Amino acid sequence: MASDTIYLNGEFMPLEEARVPVLDRGFIFGDGVYEVVPAYSRHPFRLAEHLKRLQNSLDGIRLANPLSDAEWTALTHELIKRNDGDDQSIYYQVTRGPAKRAHEFPLEVKQTVFMMSNPLVTPPQAQIDKGVGCITATDFRWLKCDLKSVSLLGNCLLKQMAVDAGAAEVVMFRDGYLTEASASNVFIVRNGVLLAPPKNHLILPGITYDVVIEIAKANKMPIELREISEHEVRTAEEIWVTSSTKEVLAVTMLDDEPVGEGKPGGTFRRMHALYQDFKQTVMRRAA
Ligand code: PDD
Repeated sequence: MASDTIYLNGEFMPLEEARVPVLDRGFIFGDGVYEVVPAYSRHPFRLAEHLKRLQNSLDGIRLANPLSDAEWTALTHELIKRNDGDDQSIYYQVTRGPAKRAHEFPLEVKQTVFMMSNPLVTPPQAQIDKGVGCITATDFRWLKCDLKSVSLLGNCLLKQMAVDAGAAEVVMFRDGYLTEASASNVFIVRNGVLLAPPKNHLILPGITYDVVIEIAKANKMPIELREISEHEVRTAEEIWVTSSTKEVLAVTMLDDEPVGEGKPGGTFRRMHALYQDFKQTVMRRAA
């Protein structure tokens, strides 16, 4: 069930009452950006970082931020308060608003601002213990994957390929190199070294990706950010996917081949535990 109370253009209201004009450019062109912010025990996690990424996405599509960071923060807390559940997944969407249909930007823009809350569903213990299966595919998305655009048709088509194959995610390669998954970032472990593709226009700069790197560095785990070939992924000891909702999850089968020993590896188990500790510490400080 989605949230009972949502925020739309200045007002909180029941989800059923929320309406957006059919000419909204978000509907017509997918002309907008979004964020997904996890809240644990009613505290938004890494909110400043999510707001910074939102600003970067807005700048990338040349759309003014309709709210200040202080306003986003206050609205986020209010939305969390008005919805049930201690752990929530907060969704923001900003579009270029309603306008006569024409590809170029309208001269007068009235952004549509939408926020909703969903229950935050993190992976069940069985998935953490056993890992998940993934398939692979060619990354056929556009070349601005660093923007969190609502134009997600490429990601949706790719995710459906995974679902059709009974897999949790699709790990993607572009020109023979690892990019990311349809809704998560990807890490691998080779020779005990944690590897991830560098941040550039080919991947979303994940907030969880940053947390994992921060934790690895703080705990002196060897880590390298560099281009990773398809061969390196297929012969990795471990593969992980990370996102705000999946947190850190081990991939134990790739295209029906076991990854390493076919079970979550030691580096994953260490990182998963450190991630949970990190979360607890941050949340305790926020409380
Ligand atoms: N997706 N890459 C892509 C393509 C994503 O869609 C996401 C997140 C990530 C991980 O980013 P983060 O760690 O900031 O959640 C990487 C969200 C959860 C979504 O679209 O629902």
